[in-house]
Amino acid sequence: MPRELLERARRLVGILRHYRRLHEALERSGPGAYRITSRGAWATSRPAHVYYFMKRLGIENDRFFVDLGSGDGLVACVAGLFTRSVGIEADPDLCRTATDAVADLELCHRVEIVRGDYLTMNLRRADCLYLYPDKPFHALEELLGSWPGRLLVYGPHFPPGGLIPGRQLRCGRERIQEYRARLGPDPPAALGRK
Ligand SMILES: C[S@@+](CC[C@H](N)C(=O)[O-])C[C@H]1O[C@@H](n2cnc3c(N)ncnc32)[C@H](O)[C@@H]1O
Repeated sequence: MPRELLERARRLVGILRHYRRLHEALERSGPGAYRITSRGAWATSRPAHVYYFMKRLGIENDRFFVDLGSGDGLVACVAGLFTRSVGIEADPDLCRTATDAVADLELCHRVEIVRGDYLTMNLRRADCLYLYPDKPFHALEELLGSWPGRLLVYGPHFPPGGLIPGRQLRCGRERIQEYRARLGPDPPAALGRK
């Protein structure tokens, strides 16, 4: 196996172990990996499934990946195995957990965690956005305008009316749906104009 792939496999094992320990500790001390935040609900994507989806969807060809509402950083870390990745999260405690994970897993050169509201940020440079929504995401949909990248939506969700569906993948009970924005004029507050 090429050295690069061996290194990726080694890091993936580290991520799986790290988050298994973290989530088991949360199970022991309370309701597990679930929490209400100021912006909705936090729950986690499943790391092995996320890795499978990213591999199948060729994330290494996206130069810049952003997880919108990155929770404890799991998806941002997995994406960092393939490309440059940023996680944006409003909840300060989850941001701290994610930042610690990035440091412990020695992914600082590929992964960054940013605290804030992604709806107020310039996302235009992202080639690939990832969302595990806990509610309909009309505001994001409007912001996308004619952004040329792809949006990956994890889990059973609230199908957006204005985006064009692409590939859908399943892995066990998990699924991911790819969308692209419709081409056309950007609305006034479109991505990147803030
Ligand atoms: C269902 S969790 C997904 C966590 C992570 N992406 C994953 O897949 O494991 C959704 C997260 O998005 C955050 N969130 C929701 N709206 C947000 C916003 N506008 N800006 C920043 N974070 C937001 C919530 O606080 C929550 O942690």
